[in-house]
Amino acid sequence: MVGSFSLLNKNLVITGASSGIGRCIAIECSKAGANLLLVARNRERLQETFDQLTPGNHQMIVADLKEFAQIESTIAPLLAGHLPVHGLVHAAGVEFTAPFSMTRPKHFEALFAVNVIAGFELARIVSQKKYSDLQAGGAIVFISSIRALYGQEGAVAYASSKGAILSGIRSLSLELSPRKIRVNAISPSIVRTPMTDNLFETIPESAVELLKKQHPLGFGDPIDVALACIYLLSDAGRWMTGQNMILDGGYSV
Ligand SMILES: NC(=O)c1ccc[n+]([C@@H]2O[C@H](COP(=O)([O-])OP(=O)(O)OC[C@H]3O[C@@H](n4cnc5c(N)ncnc54)[C@H](OP(=O)(O)O)[C@@H]3O)[C@@H](O)[C@H]2O)c1
Repeated sequence: MVGSFSLLNKNLVITGASSGIGRCIAIECSKAGANLLLVARNRERLQETFDQLTPGNHQMIVADLKEFAQIESTIAPLLAGHLPVHGLVHAAGVEFTAPFSMTRPKHFEALFAVNVIAGFELARIVSQKKYSDLQAGGAIVFISSIRALYGQEGAVAYASSKGAILSGIRSLSLELSPRKIRVNAISPSIVRTPMTDNLFETIPESAVELLKKQHPLGFGDPIDVALACIYLLSDAGRWMTGQNMILDGGYSV
């Protein structure tokens, strides 16, 4: 990765790095020259990602991001070896599809905990003056979803959590802009990952076929999201903040 799109010597925290989109973002960011701090719960799968990184000053942390109170104390000791932090990608996320009649407060709580609250808590932590680069600023990227913008039956709780990200980043981008920390989101439609494979097992084949037809360019690949993420993290994206980048293979048009 050359020029403005380079992440050479940038220190990044990437959540959800043990699978799917987060794993691909980690691998591509390391190719672009970044030093990474990877976060997820599953040590074995996180290690698999770690082993695929282009060599650099990388570390991994096994942590459950639902445990908000422990996030800072868990990552602080490792952040010390990664200062200043130039960026955060919150790709950790959980999905839930069910008719609204079967959607209970516990489902909303589980989705908001990982998709929303953990992401904003991490953003708060890394944007503290003691961790950030006061000269160069930084970039925070949340992975939202096309469901934040386009409805679908069975997705009330998931869509609500992804919509909350888009509302939150607009205000956060204003608070952090004086320190040149940019905050953006990417909203992908369907990307083939373990999350979508699980989803497809729960819906009829005819529904999967319909979804395929609704994507003129077909379903996405994790690398489509990873390359957009590199743009937002790099100096190439230096004038973009508070925005949502839709990546959907034409679904929304
Ligand atoms: N795939 C799509 O079509 C699609 C479309 C739009 C948006 N997205 C969003 O993109 C993001 C990544 O999705 P994906 O498809 O790559 O899903 P995935 O393959 O299921 O990966 C989800 C990641 O989140 C991590 N995670 C979940 N709960 C966690 C917790 N409590 N603590 C720490 N880490 C946790 C998982 O790691 P561990 O299990 O190891 O903890 C895993 O690395 C999600 O936010 C998803 O909503 C995906």
